[in-house]
Order: sequence, then structure tokens, then C-alpha cells
Amino acid sequence: MYKEKVNRVVLVGTGAVGCSFAYSMINQGVAEELVLIDVNEAKAEGEAMDLNHGVPFAPSPIKVWNGSYQDCESADLIVITAGLAQKPGETRLDLVEKNTKIFKDIIKNIMQSGFDGIFLVATNPVDILTYVTWKESGLPKERVIGSGTVLDSARLRFSLGKYFDVDPRNVHAVIIGEHGDTELPVWSHATIGSEQVDTVLEGKNDLKKECLEDIFVNVRDAAYHIIQRKGATYYGIGMSLVRITKAILNNENSILSVSAYLNGEYGQNDVYIGVPAVINRSGIREIIEIKLNEKEQEQFNHSVDVLKETMKPVL
Ligand code: LAC
Repeated sequence: MYKEKVNRVVLVGTGAVGCSFAYSMINQGVAEELVLIDVNEAKAEGEAMDLNHGVPFAPSPIKVWNGSYQDCESADLIVITAGLAQKPGETRLDLVEKNTKIFKDIIKNIMQSGFDGIFLVATNPVDILTYVTWKESGLPKERVIGSGTVLDSARLRFSLGKYFDVDPRNVHAVIIGEHGDTELPVWSHATIGSEQVDTVLEGKNDLKKECLEDIFVNVRDAAYHIIQRKGATYYGIGMSLVRITKAILNNENSILSVSAYLNGEYGQNDVYIGVPAVINRSGIREIIEIKLNEKEQEQFNHSVDVLKETMKPVL
């Protein structure tokens, strides 16, 4: 009997980030099944109940329920947002010990279900926890993806759009490296429309090149500024996760700066880090090696070194 292909997404973690992801999934009509799992089952149940009451307004039907790890067996994609979040004054890397412990338990439970799909990790420090997920799950590296610097690149595109007064969807700029303090903008490849940012600046007396550095610093430190004001970030990352989910489920072959496993690319090995990659139904189809100038390569190498150093005690 013909069985309609149903996209099942499992979300592990129904905190603010997880629920922002879930809410965006429903509003954007992504997937047919959304399963919520949380160590606090009552929370997961309450969130499912609340989300379901919005489904009549959703662009397409979706079944939402609070489930168990058994529901992972036939999942196409498992998104993990569970874990401790940064507090004011904390860096993302400060969370590594506690969240690694939590992750090892989650991945064990998921793999016991027979899951054989794609992982999308958001919990910080996301590059290291994506590496932990890959190691603990034993799945191929192409099917273990981190949110990487997708959000950071979106923040940069938003800020440049504002600065140049253009739709951020026409700003093509990418941040690579750690999703954190050592990330870097690849200015040499940033364009407004199809015009290099430097060229656009030459033609504008009222805009200054040195403002670009300020824009980047504000993007890099955005989470700290938001956490100071509202205690956490969740809408930007929630929508970034939906963007990656759509690229996977819709087999888009879109280029997004996810956290991907390097096996020689950018001259680096055995590390998960934010780089542009082609994303489709099989996960990461390929990593795009953009030509970095000397300074960008140096900064990228430093970012890799910081991640490897931080990873050592937990692996
Ligand atoms: C942020 C979190 C997701 O950058 O690390 O908002």
C-alpha cells in the first residue's frame, strides 16, 4: 500500500532554544511529525499541548507530541538543544564539561533506539558537542552536523544590510571558525549583491571601512549583549536551526556555514568547526573551501587550536 513519506523530526530539549525551533518549524510548515523529548517530561508534554493549539493556523498539517527515545528509531533528523546555557559572564567553552556529560547520556539513549538518520546539534560549545555526538554515535561524519556559524553569518548579514541599507538576503557574507570568541569574518568574499564590499565602500563617502570591524565585533559578541539584557538567546538560533532543517529535508543543496568535520580541508584535521558546506538530504554533501587570505587563514588556524585545546579533557 502506498505510504506517503513522512518527515519525522525529533527535538531533544524543550528549553527556550528548542521551543523557538519547534514554534518556527510549525509556522514555516516544515516536517509532518515533530516529537519533543525532555528530561522534564511534564515540560515536554505542556509544550506539545500548547504548540498543538496553534496547528490549526499552521501552513501545513503537523503532528506534535511529547515522546520517548523509542520515537527516534524512525526519525529523519534529531535536533539537540538540551544542556546548560551560558550565564552572564560565561563563555560557551565554559560549558564543555557539564554539557559533554549530558550529551554522552543522550546519544547513548538515542542510538539504542536504532536511529540511523541525521543529527543537528545546537547546544554549546556547539563545535565540540557536535564532535562528541559524532564520536559517541558512530554515524558517518556527513550525517552529524552542528549549527556552527549559521547564526553568526546571519547576524553579520543583518548588520551589513542595515549599514548599506539593503535587504540582508542580498548580502552575501560568511563567518567561519568556532561559534564563539575566535570566529572570523571572511571579508575577502563579502558582497552586497554581486559587488565586493570594498568596492561598494569606495563609492560611498559617508561609509567607512573601519566601521566593518565594529560591525564584526558586535556580531561576534551579540550573544553576550543579548544575554545581559534578556538572560538568553533563542529566536535567532531557533530560526537558524529551521533553516538548516529545511535544507536537509527539502534536499536543497544550499550552502550554509554549519559545523562540519574537517578531514584536510582548510589544512586542518579531526575537528568540527564552522565552514561553508553544501547541505542536502544526505547531510553534508561537501565542504566548500573558500580561498582565505593569510590573515584569515591564521585566525582560522587559531580557532581550530582553541577548539582542540578545549576538547582534550573531555574526549
Ligand atoms: C548565540 C548562541 C546560540 O550565539 O550561542 O546566540
